Amino acid sequence: MRLAVVCGGRSPEHAVSVTSARSILREADATRFEVVPFGITRGGRWLDPGETRSRLALVDAGATDTLGDDAGAGLLATPAVLEALRGADVVFPIVHGRNGEDGTLQGLFELAELPYVGSGVAASAAGMDQALMRASFATAGLSQARYRVLQDDGARAPAPEALRDLEAELGYPCFVKPANGGSSLGVSRARTREDLVAAFALALRYDRKLLVEEAIDGREIECAVLGNADPQPSPLGEIRPHADFYSYEAKYADARTELVVPAPLPEDTARRVQQYALRAFRALDCAGLARVDCFVTAEDDVRVIEVNTLPGFTPISMYPRLWQEAGLSYAALITRLVELALERHAEARTYA
Ligand SMILES: Nc1ncnc2c1ncn2[C@@H]1O[C@H](COP(=O)(O)OP(=O)(O)O)[C@@H](O)[C@H]1O
Ligand SMILES: [Mg+2]
Repeated sequence: MRLAVVCGGRSPEHAVSVTSARSILREADATRFEVVPFGITRGGRWLDPGETRSRLALVDAGATDTLGDDAGAGLLATPAVLEALRGADVVFPIVHGRNGEDGTLQGLFELAELPYVGSGVAASAAGMDQALMRASFATAGLSQARYRVLQDDGARAPAPEALRDLEAELGYPCFVKPANGGSSLGVSRARTREDLVAAFALALRYDRKLLVEEAIDGREIECAVLGNADPQPSPLGEIRPHADFYSYEAKYADARTELVVPAPLPEDTARRVQQYALRAFRALDCAGLARVDCFVTAEDDVRVIEVNTLPGFTPISMYPRLWQEAGLSYAALITRLVELALERHAEARTYA
């Protein structure tokens, strides 16, 4: 079976995606899959499998951690890529962020009638846009931070009276984040009015739509979910950043950040987090895989932070690690995800 792995892309998470893809290429069960890589440069140019392999060889050699910066002129400008994609039986799109996990790439595969790993268009879009996600969670009755959505009206930051309203409603500390983000880029924890104004300026560099949220105080717990109609939760992991919150630095640069697997939680609390993770997965109508991030407060309440429909997928990333904890190896996980992709594709064809 020919498994196309699409990786890279324009998001700041390009290098993470490339690392995930290299692991999939290396580890996928060679008796089942011929893995064919498709790279997207940081400039948005699609690379055919041959070009992708030569650029990945540079990454393997330690010369770079990206597929290059060359600018693209859209997918239609690279007919060799389209031709090669036509030969694929199934796709694993491991591209994070905008134009990757936000439903756009998924829409391409829908139109191409290619089975693909992970959530469909709507769930991917809702998983990427935290304003849509929070509204879906609220509808499903999931408990989460109190929040407000703000849209850039050209003023770049709210007027003083709007700031006072936010302060009265959410208090300090609070979080400001771009609705469409990832890797904590553009996310700030604000303690004062001055912080809040700076936080808006930062978040507006990433998106015109922002969220302001009350800060939840608690332990940050993650659950991996695997499946389609009958999804299963994994054992849990705990994030212990050596910082105010799980920031970009804490995720990728600070060696003191601890990922504790399994999370040391009472059995009953762990079960409630797992139930929450399943409800969040269903609330967005996810498919295949998702990592659900929650907080457990001092009062032992569960609050959902977010659903990641294409979580990091290197062997040391939380998602595969949690399944390893459950006894499912990295290679077996890839095989299972492909099976789920094929199953979902076949099922979609049964509808009138
Ligand atoms: N309301 C909140 N209360 C407490 N911490 C938060 C809150 N929102 C975000 N955080 C912290 O910021 C991190 C990044 O926020 P998140 O919404 O997950 O953005 P991203 O999509 O970039 O990962 C979280 O992992 C958590 O540590
Ligand atoms: Mg997050």
